[in-house]
Amino acid sequence: MGGGWAELENGGGGGLWEGVHYPRLVGIGGIMMCITAAAVISGIGMPYLPYLWPDLGVLFTQKKKSSGRRPVRVYMDGCFDLMHYGHANALRQAKALGDELVVGIVGDEEIIANKGPPVLSMEERVLLVSGLKWVDEVITNVPYAINEKFMNVLFNDYKIDYIIHGDDPCLLPDGTDAYALAKRAGRYKEIKRTEGVSSTDIVGRILSNMKNMDPDRKKNNASTHERLQDKDDTGFEGNDANGEQVPYFLPTSRRIVQFSNGKGPGPNARVVYIDGAFDLFHAGHVEILRIARQFGDFLLVGVHADQTVRENKGTHPIMHLHERSLSVLACRYVDEVIIGAPWEVTKDMIMTFNISTVVRGTIAEGSCHGEDPYTVPKSLGIFRTIESPRDTSSLSIARRIIDNHEAYKKRNEKKGESEKKYYAQKKYVSGD
Ligand SMILES: *[C@@H]1O[C@H](CO)[C@@H](O)[C@H](O)[C@H]1NC(C)=O
Ligand SMILES: *[C@@H]1O[C@H](CO)[C@@H](O)[C@H](O)[C@H]1NC(C)=O
Repeated sequence: MGGGWAELENGGGGGLWEGVHYPRLVGIGGIMMCITAAAVISGIGMPYLPYLWPDLGVLFTQKKKSSGRRPVRVYMDGCFDLMHYGHANALRQAKALGDELVVGIVGDEEIIANKGPPVLSMEERVLLVSGLKWVDEVITNVPYAINEKFMNVLFNDYKIDYIIHGDDPCLLPDGTDAYALAKRAGRYKEIKRTEGVSSTDIVGRILSNMKNMDPDRKKNNASTHERLQDKDDTGFEGNDANGEQVPYFLPTSRRIVQFSNGKGPGPNARVVYIDGAFDLFHAGHVEILRIARQFGDFLLVGVHADQTVRENKGTHPIMHLHERSLSVLACRYVDEVIIGAPWEVTKDMIMTFNISTVVRGTIAEGSCHGEDPYTVPKSLGIFRTIESPRDTSSLSIARRIIDNHEAYKKRNEKKGESEKKYYAQKKYVSGD
């Protein structure tokens, strides 16, 4: 890797494309190279290696086999803070432009300097991104604003063919186009932005529902509860922390198909079932789904309807049913999702889907009152409780935001302005 840097420093603008012979085979060695380079770029050690290693090992076996042709490698980066299905959809589109998708995750210091404190740690962001079914490799601690030096690292060391970015302009502090170099070289491609959701919007929803996120306060308080329901019915107020109106995401059947695997369980497959709200999809969810998948051959996930969550946990989910379903569906360990699963796991469900094991993590969200929804699987002897590997919950993510309320509010006001402008000037853009 040291060689790579020397080459860059000496080469200046002239020898930019020298490395484009792709002498090294991409494989397990490629992973090592990738992680080492990330460590060199950031100047930091490699604390995430234990997570990347097994995950990427899985990824490499899933790679598309192309007949002799060198796979087209595409790159996209981002902060991926408060990961949502908009990010997932962007990466899905990016992946469709090549064979292998390499994702750069911006480092904490760079996010703090440019946007304010991130809600998720680097470790959590790495877990979320590498948990997406379209992601083949991850590079940690990439710069916030892509620069020529880093672009050369991508082209020469990571053998990237195309850099992918959304259709919003990305300017450097001096007002020039951040992707000018890649564009000149014909190695830049654009994807359409995903409408109806952004991290800013989600932070806004959480801040405006702040009081309601605390179940203790909500309990036995009918007036709060009613107000919450009114909000829900008027459709929109959950988003207006700063008075900006981000339109709701409009779930289409096509989007759901795009996120789906499109395959049922094969013959003799052991179907594993896990259910939950999966609100504010986080690293704890990725981990529990990964473990749940190991109990069989096909992971079926029941995502509870908004009403079901509200009735049984006393709190209103921040993300709506279709949003939560897409986040779960984007996870590489998930085979199929029931959109609006019943609270109780019934005999009928077990028969309909041929469920062989029902699993549940030890960290469940919110408090449940009333009857045990797992009575049937327990009586059939197919119920398993698995130790949740981390103590993150949707509530804990929301709390982090609330605890840093002022900082996030400021950051949101700034971003809210540009969002408002975007929606005011919005035009139709064709694309997927
Ligand atoms: C119920 O909510 C209202 C309005 O937010 C508040 O004024 C009141 O103190 C709450 N009551 C209890 C018992 O928490
Ligand atoms: C139902 O699941 C079991 C495993 O739990 C499997 O052996 C069996 O073949 C499945 N049935 C069908 C019809 O696929």
